[in-house]
Amino acid sequence: MFVCSCFGITEQQVEQHAADGACTPRQIASACKAGTDCGGCVRRIQALLGRGESPRRELLAPRARSAATAATGLRDAA
Ligand code: FES
Repeated sequence: MFVCSCFGITEQQVEQHAADGACTPRQIASACKAGTDCGGCVRRIQALLGRGESPRRELLAPRARSAATAATGLRDAA
């Protein structure tokens, strides 16, 4: 199944690049250009990389939010 129709990149190709070490959509883009034209496939690529929709921050308990913040490396705004 195609993930990126602009460049004809399949799910299998994205998964292979991930297995070869690509951890982010940017690294996938470097490997095969997927996501660098219209950008419509970036969310799908994120999902394939296991970085789908983030949980809504306001729904996270303070302790879980701190863990999530530490995991993402983002500053905790709360
Ligand atoms: S569908 Fe991937 S860049 Fe357009």
